[in-house]
Parts: sequence; C-alpha cells; structure tokens
Amino acid sequence: MVIKFDTRYPSIDDLRSRAQKKIPKFAFEYLDGGCNEDVNLIRNTSELRDVQLKPNYLKAHNGSSLKTKLFGIEYDAPFGIAPVGLQGLMWPNSPEILAKAAFEHNIPFILSTVTTTSIERASKLTEGKAWFQLYHPTENRLRDDIINRAASAECPVLVILCDVPTFGFRPRDIRNGLAMPPKLSLKNIFQVFGRPHWAMETLKHGQPNFETLKPYMPKGLDLKQLGKFMDQTFSGRLNEEKIKPIRDMWKGKLVLKGVASEYDTEEAIRLGIDGVIVSNHGGRQLDAGQSTIKPLATIAEKYGDQIEVMMDSGIRSGPDIARAMANGAKFTFMGRSFMYGVSALGKKGGNHTISLLKTELQQVMEQLCCENTKDFPTHLIK
Ligand SMILES: Cc1cc2nc3c(=O)[nH]c(=O)nc-3n(C[C@H](O)[C@H](O)[C@H](O)COP(=O)(O)O)c2cc1C
Repeated sequence: MVIKFDTRYPSIDDLRSRAQKKIPKFAFEYLDGGCNEDVNLIRNTSELRDVQLKPNYLKAHNGSSLKTKLFGIEYDAPFGIAPVGLQGLMWPNSPEILAKAAFEHNIPFILSTVTTTSIERASKLTEGKAWFQLYHPTENRLRDDIINRAASAECPVLVILCDVPTFGFRPRDIRNGLAMPPKLSLKNIFQVFGRPHWAMETLKHGQPNFETLKPYMPKGLDLKQLGKFMDQTFSGRLNEEKIKPIRDMWKGKLVLKGVASEYDTEEAIRLGIDGVIVSNHGGRQLDAGQSTIKPLATIAEKYGDQIEVMMDSGIRSGPDIARAMANGAKFTFMGRSFMYGVSALGKKGGNHTISLLKTELQQVMEQLCCENTKDFPTHLIK
C-alpha cells in the first residue's frame, strides 16, 4: 500500500478531532452539526455501516481500478466534493483549496451558490471542470443570470436542490448566532481568541464573502440586512414550474440533489433530469428522515437504468464509499469529510483527504477482489 498522506491523520475522525481544536467553536459546530436532535446525522453513518460486503478471494484478479465514468467523463475515483456553504468561515480559501485538489486528483468539485468563492474562480481553478449548485432564486432574472454565468464558465453539470424548502432547525447555530440573521456575540469573539492560527489566517485573507452573489448584493449591508437579503433572494421549495425553465435553459447535465423518495425520482425522470443525488443534506434538514442508504437501494434498483443515481450523507471512509456503491450508487459525494480535512490541515487538507480516501477505497477493492467500481453490487450481502 502506497501512503501519500500525512500519517498522523489516517482517518476522517482524526481530521475531525484536529479540526475541532483548530477552528472556533461556532464554525466547528456549523460544520459538524445536524439538525434538531442529530438523529438523522447519526443514523446516516451508523446505518450505512450496517452494510456488509463479501470477498471472493480465489477469483482471478487483474488489479482494481477506481476510475469511474459519469456523464461521459472519466473520473479517477468514484467520489466527489459536495457543495458546502460558507466554507471560508471554517478555513480561509477552503473552496479554492478543495477545487484545486479536486482538479489535481480528477474528481468532481461542486461549488455552492452560498460559498465564499465565485463560479468564475472555481471554474478557472479547475479548468472548467467544477460543477455548480444553484439555490433557487426568487426572481427569474437572477436565476437566468446565475445560470448563464455557470454556462459561460463551462460548468459541465448544474445541481439543483430539493431538500431545502425551509432552512433546517439547527439549535447549535441558533445558540451561536449563526442563524439568519447572524450575529457576532462577545462569546464568539472569545472563541476566536482561542484559535490564533485561524484568526491570523482569517485576518490575512479578509472577511469571507458570498462571492458568486456579490454583484447582486447592495453594498454595505450589516449582518441583519444580509440575513434579510438572503431570505428575500432565495426560495428553496422546488416544483415542476421552477424546474422546467431550468431544464429548457441548461444545455449541460442537470442533477437533482436531496432526493430521498421514489416519488421525487419519478418526477426527476419525468422532468428530464439526468441524475439524482440521494441525499438528506448530511442530516441537516429533516431529523425524522431516513438515512440515505435506505432509499438508495430501492431507487438504484428501480430507476438506475433511467437516471444516474448518486449518494451522499454519512460517508466517512473508503469502506463507506464501497458500501454505498454496493447498494447501487454510481458515484458518491462527501461534504464534512473534506471540510474537516481543510479545517485541520489548511492548504494540505484537500490533497490529504482525497489521497486518504483513495488509498482506503483501493484497499477495500483489492480485499474484495473487485476490479471495477461498477462491480461493487456483486459483493453485497443481502
Ligand atoms: C456545513 C455544511 C454546509 C452545507 N451547505 C450546502 C450548500 O450550500 N448547498 C448544498 O447543496 N448542500 C450543502 N450541504 C450539504 C452537502 O452538500 C452534503 O449533502 C452533505 O454534507 C453530505 O453529508 P456529509 O457531510 O455527511 O458527507 C452542506 C453541508 C454542510 C455540512
């Protein structure tokens, strides 16, 4: 096994612990938390880990390859970086760090509408390979302008989101003043003093901004006005009326993220969507919802030949990726794992986390005697 990562952090859990020590509590809790009582957050990983795989040791084996084709593009591994908002709050320049690392490793990076770098910059860093995730704007003019920018930046895939009809109820963020509108309390300021490296880096790079949205935001908004602007600018509840014009306008691949039911998958197929990400936003929206591994199996089996089925939420290791793929996911994504990596290790965090996951997944494939990522389902113990 060739180890190409910092051996002090050989697991996502190690990165999480390190991140907790490096960044202020309000930023860590924003990243780490789920919603309400965190039931869905915990379930995602624990139920995924109930999946068991069988090896076929005596089968002829000509080596294992992580290479996976999706939407006609061959990626070097079957996982990508999920869209995460406000990334610069966790670590300065983190979307840039992750976009570059994704490009170097030839895996997809999805940029969130509400993160801290722009569509144009992410596209430049990835030579036009970054995907873009659109929060649904209230006004059609704004929607069209953002979509046109994503097209001009040559994003190959546009991701729209159905699991944020309302903001998640997140007690930690409410306590920390990170709910909309956010507030910088004395408590938060004390937390910053306890994290001098984070504070220095943040000072050096300046306050993070919503770079993609900057052209549309009135200048000089205070925090309260910013919250109001966000509320007025986006309306998360998707429906046919909102999806149709996007499908008509967007010539590239269109993906619906946040699908957790057969109903929504059938609607996606009917509306001409190319792929679904079975996701519950990493347990941040509906605490009473299912873990994603549960609907994944049904959706992949019933609709996998009509639409590309991907999955995220709860994945924290190579074996977890294998478990998801054995249940029919063609591709997987992770949000927190990569952000723990960058929060823990700064500009080395992207490369470290991708290398770690690749090494782990390669090991699982060789252990199973699985040559190609599409063969994972043959190793599933039903
Ligand atoms: C801090 C945080 C912010 C997120 N922001 C967004 C976002 O702006 N857009 C989006 O589509 N999903 C967002 N997500 C959800 C992720 O894209 C992804 O679905 C989720 O993180 C997957 O679960 P995991 O963190 O367990 O891997 C966010 C997740 C986290 C943890």
